[in-house]
Amino acid sequence: MLNLYLKLYIYIMLKFRKYNLKNNNIPQNNKRPNCVNKIKEISLIEFKNQVFNRRDAFLDSLREGNAYIIKEAINKSKLISLRERIHKFGMTTKESWHDTKEGIPDFHQIDDELKFFKQRKKAHTYHFFSWNKKDIEIYDLCTELLNLYAIINGNRENKFPFEITNPNVVNRLQVHHYPLGGGYMSQHKDPDTYTKTIAVIYMSKYGIDYENGGLYFHDKNNKPHSIDCLVDIGDMVCAYPTITHGCKEIDLNKDFNWKSPNGRWLILFNTLPRN
Ligand SMILES: [Fe+2]
Repeated sequence: MLNLYLKLYIYIMLKFRKYNLKNNNIPQNNKRPNCVNKIKEISLIEFKNQVFNRRDAFLDSLREGNAYIIKEAINKSKLISLRERIHKFGMTTKESWHDTKEGIPDFHQIDDELKFFKQRKKAHTYHFFSWNKKDIEIYDLCTELLNLYAIINGNRENKFPFEITNPNVVNRLQVHHYPLGGGYMSQHKDPDTYTKTIAVIYMSKYGIDYENGGLYFHDKNNKPHSIDCLVDIGDMVCAYPTITHGCKEIDLNKDFNWKSPNGRWLILFNTLPRN
């Protein structure tokens, strides 16, 4: 009986704990790296261990500019078939754009250097929300990693036996397809207001699906440090958002075709205020 009261007490404490959109539930720190320090390869088990048991130390490491490649974070063949389903979605439904608010549909858009985005890019972008029908099944594949991402960002408590998620934020899963022939994203830094890590999952393989270009981080000498050659399909890359980064043109020497499924594919995690 006492045990039950204790559990109820913990639940109430966690449930009504005040969440702040600016992540006041994590240690505040003014360190915001501009460049990448070390690139560390870790297993999914080690990543879970760090996030569940040493979250604050993991955050400190990100703030020191360390980037992480989490190996085999998602099953490779499931990601390849997800990529095919998403390409079909892009080919069989009309392009559209919706500002993020509760209830909007999944949608996609060809971003051919559109001027109203801060980052210039040439990419087919797809946007998925958890409240929509599960035809694409992208959330099923990403649930575990999304939970870990929310813990890093201070939006999820994993204090046994309860798990409570910040009700003031929503997740958006984006998929970017950078076609061969020059798909790219311009160099930029992301804000760290709502998220403390870039989180991208690779759905294509450098050296097989494309030969040149992809993600780079600036190092301390302001030189681009290529990441894609280190990463396989199913790996996840985490790094502090303020590190200067971009996506170098994918196989500029090849023909460009918005309809072709070839090129570089990845899933990007986002957390946004709930409207
Ligand atoms: Fe970015």
